[in-house]
Amino acid sequence: MSVDIDRLIGEMTLAEKLGQLTMTASTYAVTGPVIAGYSTAEISSGAIGNLLNMVGAAATREMQDLALRSRMKIPLLIGLDVIHGHRTQFPIPIAEAGIFDAAIWERTAREAAREAAADGLAMTFAPMLDVSRDPRWGRTAEGFGEDPWLGTQVARAKVRGFQGDDLSAADSLAGCAKHFCAYGPVNAGREYAPVDISERALREIHLPAFEAAVRAGVATIMPAFTDLAGIPMTAHVALLRDYLRGELGFDGVIVSDYTAIKELIKHGVAADLVEAAVLSLKAGVDIDMMSDAYRNGLPIALERGLVTIGEIDACVRRVLKLKEKLGLFADPYLRGSNAESPEAVTARRTFAREVGARAVTLLENRNDALPLPASLKKLCVLGPLADAAGEMAGPWGAAQNPKEHVSVLAGLRAAYPDAEIAYAAGTSIKGERKRGENIDAAARLIDGADAVILCLGEAAPMSGEAASRAYPELPGRQRDLAEAVLARAQKSGTKVIAILFSGRPLVVPWLAESADALIAAWFVGSEAGHAIADVLTGRASPSGRTPITWPRATGQIPIFFGMRPSGRPNDPKDYFTSKYLDVPNEPLYPFGHGLSYGRFSYGNLRVSPERAGKGDRIEARVDVINEGKARAEETVFLFVRDKVASVTRPLLELKGFAKITLDPGARGEVRLSLDVEELRFLDQSLKPVLEAGEVEILVGPCADRAKLLAAVVTVKA
Ligand code: NOJ
Repeated sequence: MSVDIDRLIGEMTLAEKLGQLTMTASTYAVTGPVIAGYSTAEISSGAIGNLLNMVGAAATREMQDLALRSRMKIPLLIGLDVIHGHRTQFPIPIAEAGIFDAAIWERTAREAAREAAADGLAMTFAPMLDVSRDPRWGRTAEGFGEDPWLGTQVARAKVRGFQGDDLSAADSLAGCAKHFCAYGPVNAGREYAPVDISERALREIHLPAFEAAVRAGVATIMPAFTDLAGIPMTAHVALLRDYLRGELGFDGVIVSDYTAIKELIKHGVAADLVEAAVLSLKAGVDIDMMSDAYRNGLPIALERGLVTIGEIDACVRRVLKLKEKLGLFADPYLRGSNAESPEAVTARRTFAREVGARAVTLLENRNDALPLPASLKKLCVLGPLADAAGEMAGPWGAAQNPKEHVSVLAGLRAAYPDAEIAYAAGTSIKGERKRGENIDAAARLIDGADAVILCLGEAAPMSGEAASRAYPELPGRQRDLAEAVLARAQKSGTKVIAILFSGRPLVVPWLAESADALIAAWFVGSEAGHAIADVLTGRASPSGRTPITWPRATGQIPIFFGMRPSGRPNDPKDYFTSKYLDVPNEPLYPFGHGLSYGRFSYGNLRVSPERAGKGDRIEARVDVINEGKARAEETVFLFVRDKVASVTRPLLELKGFAKITLDPGARGEVRLSLDVEELRFLDQSLKPVLEAGEVEILVGPCADRAKLLAAVVTVKA
């Protein structure tokens, strides 16, 4: 059904128009849906046109009923933060990025969309496309890591996954690329702090993923809370209006972040709500989430001639267009009407287990400590994250039921039904002393065990929004617990398998040096315990690769592989070179690091053509051999290094990745390719150029230059 949007706008009152530009949060209580601070009457009067934080087919239906009683009968747009799953939780984005598989990135979003749409939702506030190179920033958990090119790949897959082929399908959600833009480099990693970066960094690092999302057809975009070099993003004319709408031609909806319009007052660019509303409307923000600045401020602004009705109508048009595209006018009850079959729900859990196992990242595996033998008799499971089902899904999950998640302890009990399993938390996550917890008593449980599984890390809410940490290390008394366990295990010869749960890389060089095996389990979702047990037992070979560099000291932050060269690169023989006096320059683990139960070697890199110009495609082929004892998957990365250019270029730039699965002893060829066009960069005046000269093509298992094979291609301009 096509709607005559212009006719609708022509018939709407100002209050009804501003209702369409308003998104209000609800809290769904047992007694029924409640609009926080408002009455549901405002929906039936048309004063509220969009909701967030409403979950459930019945509740959303009830809300649509109210909206359809309004004079204009415009259906509600109902959104929620469906970030890495809805009821079923998949790995958090930083973990999922490390799977390096676009089909998986897309499918988890698709599954989440199906589940959320069945719950009556039509919009998600995802994907988050902020590059993070600072593990202090809690929202590192919600993004894809440190690399801009990787961000473009994730962006495309996620938009396709959430939105499907047809936005008006009953199982599609409108996606929201957020937080536009450059939220990741908040000052000193502190949440909501200002950002001040160069125009080059903005264009090279922070915009590409958003551009990719727009090109993929993302329906909505959310500006970041932050101030970018003096201009809060919610009022950023140059980036929202000129770049997004102008340069990229984005004609979807821009929805403010939660109370972000009102916050323009605290930023100090607006004196009151009226000014705040004017600034964001002029910048192109269509929907006001939770500031009530449009409803209260724009009528006054209109009277004072600060905005025009034409500007308001343009926003209303975009919102109504989105509702139309979502099929809401054709059938407001399209979503929320199909209860899913129990088989579909079970299949999704099975998928969550598979994806969870693939996201698990094996950082160390000394003397093949893992996988554990099938015959083990006694296992000791220790640590505050061992029996913590509720933490397993990480920081987001408005609709999750934490009781349905699987803890490591439960996963191991299911995997080893005949083994004796001793368990103690030993200490709490944050160090509060709880009755019955005793580090020494916990460590004593190791005696006689074949291995100790030590589950350490952060509680789920210690990453995500408003969760910056100045010391991204093990919180509380967990280091004391680990040291007691390591000391006791050394005496008894017991293997220590340390598992880290976190939404960020943790600074744990001491643990990396002494544990027999170290795993980054991030937060891999509802099936975490089974997924982790699958990896520990060898049922699944771990294949996660960290999409973000792990620092060995907090003082190294920000540390990332795409740094530019120094005129005085570190040279141990020369004091006046770029280094620290107290810590090596090298990270604990580079981007892309992650072991499997295979052992891969690389050889015979062939790159063709040797000379390439505009329109050519460069192909790299490399032999990969599995010299290990188990069948496993290897992720192969392709980096480039432009050796001499008119501006300095990063020491490594990611341009591709590929996968190969090999049996023990098997050899295979991996092909990767890139268009010469991808070697374009921004010249001194920030114009894209392709310059003639030599470019190194580097192929290998991670961003450690010493592990990469290199060949040179000469680029003809
Ligand atoms: C604030 C967060 O910054 C944003 O990511 C989220 O989508 C909104 N709240 C809505 O929950």
